[in-house]
Amino acid sequence: LSGFVVAIDGPSGSGKSSVSKQVARTLGYAYLDTGAMYRALTWWCLDRHVDLDDPAAVAAAAEDFPLDIGTDPDAPHVLVGGADVAEAIRETRISTSVSKVATVIPVRELLRLLQRQLISKAGAARGGVVVEGRDITTVVAPDASVRILLTASEEARLARRSRELHGDADETSVSATRAQIVDRDRLDSTVSVFTVAADGVTTVDTSELDFDGSVRAVLHIVAAAR
Ligand code: C5P
Repeated sequence: LSGFVVAIDGPSGSGKSSVSKQVARTLGYAYLDTGAMYRALTWWCLDRHVDLDDPAAVAAAAEDFPLDIGTDPDAPHVLVGGADVAEAIRETRISTSVSKVATVIPVRELLRLLQRQLISKAGAARGGVVVEGRDITTVVAPDASVRILLTASEEARLARRSRELHGDADETSVSATRAQIVDRDRLDSTVSVFTVAADGVTTVDTSELDFDGSVRAVLHIVAAAR
């Protein structure tokens, strides 16, 4: 790895993406959203009518996945075969099927390789890179300069994601959200464990922190390591 690498893992709704992006902006670093890569591959599979319940077919589709992902925190483009999918990959149909793609082992091997290349390139170009995902602190960049597990209580995560998806955190919105994020984390946990910090990984619990407080907490850890 080249440059200063800040690896941030965490479950859905931990505030991982918005916090990571802001930390990258503040430091003038590049930013890599590895979840967007799994989402983009899911989009590509669905676009090509690949049966997501057939791991071999998914792995084959990953072999010629024409991804172009940006690492500028102010404009992180996501193109697949030239098509701008940045918005499409946030749709519910992707969120509810991405785990099927992300649990295919050859897919993970391929994307991890790509992620390491992107980290090296972006880190070299900008002097540093903030990378967020599920297995960055443990598998993709265990030698990162800073490794953080961003967590939050299930209650806090549900409320946040519910506000994001439905603009509200009332009982109905929260229960609709629960089905989406708790189920996804359960499916994901078969391949990437992210609820307990690995050795040498610092846990930041954001349950009681707002956005700015979470950003400050991460920047504090980075500053101590620089
Ligand atoms: O971070 P985000 O919620 O957008 O990630 C979407 C999905 O991508 C996760 O639910 C998981 O299935 C997969 N993922 C992964 N490993 C990563 C990042 C994301 O398996 N490093």
